[in-house]
Amino acid sequence: MKKNDEKEQNNSLPAEPAEEKNANSPDGVSENASPKVREQAQEKADAEENIIICDNLVKIYKTEDVEVLALQGLDILIKRGELMAIIGNSGSGKSTFLNMIGGLDRPSAGRLIVDGKDLFKLSERELVDYKRNTVGFVWQNNARNLLPYLTAAENVQMPMLFTNSDRKKRAKALELLELVGLSHRKNSKLSQMSGGEQQRVAIAIALANSPKILLADEPTGSVDVKTGAYILDVFKEINETTGLTIVIVTHDRMLSKKVHRVAAIRDGKISSEMIMKQSYRNRMNEITAFTETSEVQDEYSILDRAGRVQIPHEILDQLDLDGNKVKLELLDGKVVISRPE
Ligand SMILES: Nc1ncnc2c1ncn2[C@@H]1O[C@H](COP(=O)(O)OP(=O)(O)OP(=O)(O)O)[C@@H](O)[C@H]1O
Ligand SMILES: [Mg+2]
Repeated sequence: MKKNDEKEQNNSLPAEPAEEKNANSPDGVSENASPKVREQAQEKADAEENIIICDNLVKIYKTEDVEVLALQGLDILIKRGELMAIIGNSGSGKSTFLNMIGGLDRPSAGRLIVDGKDLFKLSERELVDYKRNTVGFVWQNNARNLLPYLTAAENVQMPMLFTNSDRKKRAKALELLELVGLSHRKNSKLSQMSGGEQQRVAIAIALANSPKILLADEPTGSVDVKTGAYILDVFKEINETTGLTIVIVTHDRMLSKKVHRVAAIRDGKISSEMIMKQSYRNRMNEITAFTETSEVQDEYSILDRAGRVQIPHEILDQLDLDGNKVKLELLDGKVVISRPE
């Protein structure tokens, strides 16, 4: 009987006005819909809002005699248009994470959806297309990005294989060089440019195929502090003017005042996030090197799906534990972790 009712309802659906159909829930899925349908609708809504969905991501590198667990169940959502940084100690998994998003290497387990594409399901051919059109990469070492014997404009045109007219290629290259503040050096050979200028050309190259996401691994690692600050400003400006999603891996703590969010990786998992306060986000240009970081950002620890949270060593050391057991209590709505008596 119920089945028939449902069928009748379904048959009448197309005649109903759209608003009424959507009245049950914001995503237009009836509250009576099966859990599977609701789950699919939620996944679709998540993918629309988040350009990167990373769920319990694991990467294991196998070499002849050892296995390295480079990502140990990393969870993160990155919104479309976000400008964010990933920080963490050497070996914590930052580059591994970026390489997974960039499609340069396959993850071992978990879920990774980028711009609605499931990176576990892409064929080799689709992956080539993904690397060409969805992501742009900037590396620390610009030998990997650039051809020294070509001019800045020629370098930026190199990735535009499928743009047919030379005039269009050149116009786009000049537009991108302008965006990174280098239009006056368009005819200079790369070998005649400074490290910081070369890095800006590298950013223009990464943008040549109009990617959806710009990924940068230690882009300020080989330049001095002042040049590094300038390069970070270029990323900020690109994000503001084009709305491109940008993820920057860095050791540079100064960066935290220039991005919307900083996620810290520890042992292959996101351990904490610093999120720029909305009041500051509206006035990002006013933030100076002298503004206290705590004024600019709120800091949060990350609770994973299994209910685990990492306690920073500075705090653990003060607890002065003997073994690996702690007492966990809920007191006045607060979770208190203490030494066992
Ligand atoms: N191709 C590989 N084969 C084997 N192990 C690897 C490979 N790439 C990375 N690793 C290991 O995975 C772990 C994470 O490395 P990753 O390069 O992601 O760290 P990172 O945070 O980028 O460090 P750094 O700040 O030094 O660049 C390290 O233990 C590293 O030795
Ligand atoms: Mg690295």
